[in-house]
Amino acid sequence: MDPVHPPLRTFGRIRSRAIKPRQAALMTTLLPTISVPEGPLDPRNLMPEASEVWLEIGFGGGEHMAALAARRPDVLILGAEPFLNGVASALRHIEAGGLNNVRLWTGDARDLMAAMPDASLGRLFILFPDPWPKARHVKRRLIQPAFAVEAARLMKPGGRVRFATDWAEYADQALVVFGRSPHFHWLARRADDWRRPPADHVATRYEEKRLGDCPPIWFEFEKL
Ligand SMILES: C[S@@+](CC[C@H](N)C(=O)[O-])C[C@H]1O[C@@H](n2cnc3c(N)ncnc32)[C@H](O)[C@@H]1O
Repeated sequence: MDPVHPPLRTFGRIRSRAIKPRQAALMTTLLPTISVPEGPLDPRNLMPEASEVWLEIGFGGGEHMAALAARRPDVLILGAEPFLNGVASALRHIEAGGLNNVRLWTGDARDLMAAMPDASLGRLFILFPDPWPKARHVKRRLIQPAFAVEAARLMKPGGRVRFATDWAEYADQALVVFGRSPHFHWLARRADDWRRPPADHVATRYEEKRLGDCPPIWFEFEKL
């Protein structure tokens, strides 16, 4: 993907409220030990024994990412999130779960993706990305044709992208973007596949707020 993407704009602020003392301590002790370094990245160097590498973009408070990591200790879980209160919350989950297989990127996921080699990801999670519902802001959405090109480069054949939103028009956009890509195949076979959360899904904080204009919609795309 063109590394000169539009600058990151987040729906909320990069830091919205004071970080609790325990979380602030983890920002200086734990975070440096599990941060993804800047520059070209071969994720296998971060955890050589990992069976696969998965990425969650915009992990929010980190509860979903931590649940994934606890369930699959053999998988290296990369999480990208620029919102510092979310990073602080995720550190608490990582510490509480004694998780050794999570690495964090506290910036724009698109910069992390650009630093990664082809066919390095088994799964990609984009859960309730910033909706940017106003027409004039639609270009700020993460899911754009250039994003699908970059995701296709990074995914292994058979790898899966999970996308969820509770904004109907964003769901349409994601379906168009991934549907037009020759590299992805939508796995839905019946309506319940997009109307109901996947069996292995762990609810996220944003999902539970029900802020959108429709019930959550779930898409799973397979890399061909
Ligand atoms: C609406 S919140 C949802 C958070 C979480 N996935 C959930 O469901 O609770 C979207 C998150 O994506 C993050 N985000 C937005 N653009 C991003 C980007 N380019 N790279 C990484 N994270 C991003 C925001 O900071 C925000 O925390």
